[in-house]
Amino acid sequence: MGLYVDRILPWMLERVLRLPALEEQRVEALRGSAGRVLEVGFGSGASLPSYPAAGVQEIVGIDPNPGMIRRARRHQSASPRPVRLVRASGGALPFPDGRFDTVVTLLTLCSVPDPEATLREIRRVLRPGGRFLFLEHGLARDARLARWQRRLTPLHRLLAGGCRLDVPMAAAISASGFAIESLDRYETDLGPRVSRQMYRGVARVA
Ligand SMILES: C[S@@+](CC[C@H](N)C(=O)[O-])C[C@H]1O[C@@H](n2cnc3c(N)ncnc32)[C@H](O)[C@@H]1O
Repeated sequence: MGLYVDRILPWMLERVLRLPALEEQRVEALRGSAGRVLEVGFGSGASLPSYPAAGVQEIVGIDPNPGMIRRARRHQSASPRPVRLVRASGGALPFPDGRFDTVVTLLTLCSVPDPEATLREIRRVLRPGGRFLFLEHGLARDARLARWQRRLTPLHRLLAGGCRLDVPMAAAISASGFAIESLDRYETDLGPRVSRQMYRGVARVA
């Protein structure tokens, strides 16, 4: 793992991902979390203050980047509930079937190399009736903007840790066997328009 991925990218991401504008969106996305929670793509743990005060028993955060895990460890003890950090990829979750009541992804499905494999794993580790909560950016409704997102994705992937601008999030989630119970599509005001097309919602195994 090179200097950029191990040191520089985690440093940059931590700064961007702790902006207050994102915190409000996380609070809204995490409102339904309860019981044993798995957060896939935990990053530096910027989500920890946004979990509801009651109802969450423990949080397991996974991330494949050791630089992100190192940063997350600094915030782990600030959480009022147990937080366990595991270095792992969303495409191969090291947990038994049905282990979690809630699985969360926040600005992560854009960065995983194979979103379908990660969504399959999320389904597998959710207990029957468990909830998948997501806050992601993805493909725009506007056709012109979507064309720009497709054009810029190769460059953006190089600069932003593999992050794609053009994933049709709702379609990818439904195609992976989830029934989407609620979905908010909106444009946030943070960053360039190509990366501001938000999908926030709740899904259950169909
Ligand atoms: C944009 S950051 C978001 C971090 C965090 N969810 C937040 O909101 O602050 C994307 C995260 O996805 C992680 N990631 C990349 N590939 C992954 C994979 N295959 N499985 C799980 N996480 C991955 C990255 O290391 C990074 O921490």
